[in-house]
Amino acid sequence: MTIRALELFCGIGGFAAATAGTNIRVAGAVDQSPAALEVYRQNFPGHDAWQLNLENVTAEELQVFGADFWWLSPPCQPYTVRGAGRDAADPRALSFRRILDIMTRMNGDSLPLHLALENVEGFTRSEMRKRLVDLLSLRGFRIQECMLCPTELGVPMRRPRYYLMASRLRLSPPVVIVDMPLRPLGDYLDGCDGNGIPDELHVAGDVLARFGKGFRIVDPKDPLAYTTCFTSGYGRSLMHAGSYLRCAGGVRRFAPEEIARLLHFPEEFRFPDRMTLRKKWHLVGNSLSVAAVRKVLEAFPDVQSHKPQTTSLKG
Ligand SMILES: C[S@@+](CC[C@H](N)C(=O)[O-])C[C@H]1O[C@@H](n2cnc3c(N)ncnc32)[C@H](O)[C@@H]1O
Repeated sequence: MTIRALELFCGIGGFAAATAGTNIRVAGAVDQSPAALEVYRQNFPGHDAWQLNLENVTAEELQVFGADFWWLSPPCQPYTVRGAGRDAADPRALSFRRILDIMTRMNGDSLPLHLALENVEGFTRSEMRKRLVDLLSLRGFRIQECMLCPTELGVPMRRPRYYLMASRLRLSPPVVIVDMPLRPLGDYLDGCDGNGIPDELHVAGDVLARFGKGFRIVDPKDPLAYTTCFTSGYGRSLMHAGSYLRCAGGVRRFAPEEIARLLHFPEEFRFPDRMTLRKKWHLVGNSLSVAAVRKVLEAFPDVQSHKPQTTSLKG
C-alpha cells in the first residue's frame, strides 16, 4: 500500500530524503523559498514541488495532492529565545496558523489520515502546540510526542528536536531509544589533512586569535567528538551557530556537504553548483535530521521500509 504524502515547509527535502526506501510517496511539496526549492527539485526531480506562501494557502490547494500523510516543518523562530519567543503572535507563525484554521474547518473525511510535525524544543511550551494538540484530539487523532536528538541514534551531532506523530488510525507503541554509541566524526568528513578542503572553509588566524576562545572546536581524532547544532546562521554568525573543526594547519568550518551528511541526507545529495557557500549553509542549517525522521516514521504502522537505509558516510 502506497502512502501519499504532502511535505509542507519542505525546504531542501529532509522529509523526502527520509521516505526513500519506504512505501511513502511524496505527492506534493510546498515552500516559499526559491533557493530551497532549487535544491529540492534538483535532488527529488520526481516530486511535485510548489512555490507558495502558506499564509495564503487554501483548503483546495492542500487537498489537491490527495495526501494521506501531512508532514510539517513550520518556521521555528516564533518558539526560540533568539526569535523573541512571540509564539502565535509572531508573523512567522501565520502560515502554520493558516493551516490549523483550514484543518479546523475541514470535514473529517478531508483531513489526512496521518500527520507529523517537527520543531524546536521551545515549541513544546507554546500556544501553537496546544492549538495543534487540541485540534487533533478533537478530530479523533491518536497522538504521540517526543524529543529526539541524532546523538541518541549514534550520530555525532546535537540537534534535539520536538516531534509530534498523529494518526486517525493506530500508532505503534512509543519507540524506546537506547542511546547508541557515537560513530566517529571522521566518517562524516571530507578530510582533515587539509587536502582538497576549499580555502574559504578555513578560519583566518586573526579571527581565531580574536574570537577563538568562544568557538567550540572539535577534534576529529577524538572518538567521542560530536558537533553542536548547525543553525541557518552558520558561516554568518561566528558564535553559537555550530562547531568548528581542528584540522592540519588550523581550524576550519564544516562544509555544507558534511553537515548534510551528518543530517543523513543520501550520498547522492547535491547542492546546485552555482549556489553560494552562505546560501548552502543557510538552507542545510534550516533542515532536519533525516535519521531522526526515519525513527519518527516508525510510529506509523502503515509505513513500511522496503530496503535497508543507506547513509551518506564517507569511506
Ligand atoms: C524549519 S525550515 C524546514 C526545512 C525542511 N524541513 C528541510 O528539510 O529543509 C522552514 C521552511 O519553511 C519555509 N517557510 C517559511 N515561511 C513560509 C511560508 N509562509 N510559506 C511557505 N514556506 C515557508 C522556509 O522557506 C523554510 O524552508
